[in-house]
Amino acid sequence: MEALSRLLRALRQRLWSGPGAPWPRPPARGCSGGSDYRELCARAAREPGPFWGALARQTLLWDTPHHTDCEGDFARGRVRWFLGGRLNVAANCLDRHAQHSPNRVALIWEKDEPGTEERVTYRELLEMTCRLANTLKKNGIKKGDRVAIYMPVCPLAVAAMLACARIGAVHTVVFAGFSGESLAGRISDAECKAVITCNQGVRGGRVIELKKTVDEAVENCPSVKCVFVAQRTANKVHMGSRDILLEEEMAKEASVCPPEIMDSEDMLFMLYTSGSTGKPKGIVHSQAGYLLYVALTHKHVFDYKQGDVFGCVADIGWITGHSYIVYGPLCNGGTTVLFESTPIYPDPGRYWETVQRLRINQFYCAPTALRLLLKHGDEYVKKYDRSSLTALGSVGEPINREAWQWFYSVVGEERCTLVDTWWQTETGGICVAPRPSEKGAEIVPAIAMRPFYGITPVLMDEKGKVIEDNNVSGALCIAQPWPGMARTIYGDHQRFIEAYFKTYPGYYFTGDGAYRTEEGYYQITGRMDDVLNISGHRLGTAEIEDAMDEHPAVPETAVVGYPHDIKGEGAFAFIVLRDDTAHPEIVSKEVKAIVASKIAKYAVPDHILVVKRLPKTRSGKIMRRLLRGIVTGNICDLGDITTLDDPSVITEILDTYEKYKAQHPTL
Ligand code: WT7
Repeated sequence: MEALSRLLRALRQRLWSGPGAPWPRPPARGCSGGSDYRELCARAAREPGPFWGALARQTLLWDTPHHTDCEGDFARGRVRWFLGGRLNVAANCLDRHAQHSPNRVALIWEKDEPGTEERVTYRELLEMTCRLANTLKKNGIKKGDRVAIYMPVCPLAVAAMLACARIGAVHTVVFAGFSGESLAGRISDAECKAVITCNQGVRGGRVIELKKTVDEAVENCPSVKCVFVAQRTANKVHMGSRDILLEEEMAKEASVCPPEIMDSEDMLFMLYTSGSTGKPKGIVHSQAGYLLYVALTHKHVFDYKQGDVFGCVADIGWITGHSYIVYGPLCNGGTTVLFESTPIYPDPGRYWETVQRLRINQFYCAPTALRLLLKHGDEYVKKYDRSSLTALGSVGEPINREAWQWFYSVVGEERCTLVDTWWQTETGGICVAPRPSEKGAEIVPAIAMRPFYGITPVLMDEKGKVIEDNNVSGALCIAQPWPGMARTIYGDHQRFIEAYFKTYPGYYFTGDGAYRTEEGYYQITGRMDDVLNISGHRLGTAEIEDAMDEHPAVPETAVVGYPHDIKGEGAFAFIVLRDDTAHPEIVSKEVKAIVASKIAKYAVPDHILVVKRLPKTRSGKIMRRLLRGIVTGNICDLGDITTLDDPSVITEILDTYEKYKAQHPTL
């Protein structure tokens, strides 16, 4: 109780005192375009602790200020920020804005049907969050408990995330396109006590049976004590003994809920993502460091100003949604769009019609959508008024020149800044982007370009040495800790250390390769490990293989990525059949169905090629590199094949592949 009154005192004194007060001040002049940006970066690199410490004090609303800026290092794989500090993330995202500008719009829910949008003010979102938080508490959810959220993009999903933050519970949002089995895997790993879902989802005019999928998932999840069901559609769904109608319960609860005061380093949320081996890992993010980092990057990379409408069309099930639909914009007191639909519903003009209707100022999307839309021609864009736009952003995968040019010239009429933003689930927020920059600095098409202040990228050569030169490629690492970085993998800190800090001791290894230009700009070239990026979604080849291996007639599989026109990268699978009597076409179909039900539809390989055997080393390891060489047409450059058990396997697979290719001209 005492902590609460301290928080309220702080709120009143420091942040609700006058117009503009909650707005974070940059630590030096012109972060988003000043000529001293280089100096700012130098200072951040020289003295990261005091640099970020000052920003944390200015930007966030604290119950107790921190006493230690940063502790730990990459050598040990354990980093902590703002120690001794205590705060509540939901109070930062809601209360201070609700008090100061209760009727400011926090969310614009761009529902699936065009023209049916709904606005939610800060006061309303605060009330919704409090009622939801009280509902969770009433049902036994306490600080530290994990809660899975399996919902489409909607205000209640945002309220669910913030309600967890308010009571100190840890949310794990699972993208509503994942299968029941994927959901179950995540719920079990996180030992979630509750699931929040909707009866159904609606996307692209189609109904998605969310509750049914949750029912399947929780059947084998004894940790789940209750399932909260919100009503997205008017249809009734089966309600079992642990199911609770969310809105009905919320209506009975009080509209205020005191925020639980959390330590800076307490867990805010976890989000599962794929690695090169094993099951998806629960990436853990902290309270203060994460919030600070996403608020600052949101403001400075997009030059977001109060009153702007920020339109990030990602799903909240991915880190992009967490950082740039929910936490970044709301911490900044912004207005953020929740886009429920698809880029082509009801037609390929949907994004731009939405931009016109909602007067969106910053528009943030994935290259895969742009590649799809540009094929439909410029008319769908030009039909709509895009004069509100000031900045365009791209995220999730390398953006090819054609898509960049189209986005810049056709969509942005060559007057909007286009930022290609590189980052990862693990980095929490944007790390490399064209902005901020020195005043008047150029933007090079299709290059992520500059590190955000406090980010110290380095390239490593094959021997693990830092490359000092420009005009070189290498493994992209980051040399110094920053507040937004992930803290651990849930329940497996050793895996965290091995995945990110072992390859280049003393550095965080991103898993990506990058090229540094003559001018020192960074261009991301793609993953260096067995991770695919399909339409901006990350997938481990091992995950897909493990799913395919479940088929009784398929003893061996190998998946590699290949360039895909729209998706950027597609999955190409090679399978071996147990005996000759199995029918390849039937087995392939069954294998695809298994992948869809074990992971998600988007994980299903585009191509499945039946081969007699796979290329292996003498010690029995599958040489995926050779298969990748075959499907990407780089057969002249297969590299070292001396460890290959039987080199004749290459011509054998190549023959089969050529025959297959002849029947599939799109390959
Ligand atoms: C991987 C991270 C960043 C949020 C969404 C994806 C690739 C991401 C870019 C970019 C080239 C990019 C990288 C990275 N990636 N942004 N602008 N240019 N590649 O987050 O699922 O954690 O995936 O996406 O390969 O490692 P994620």
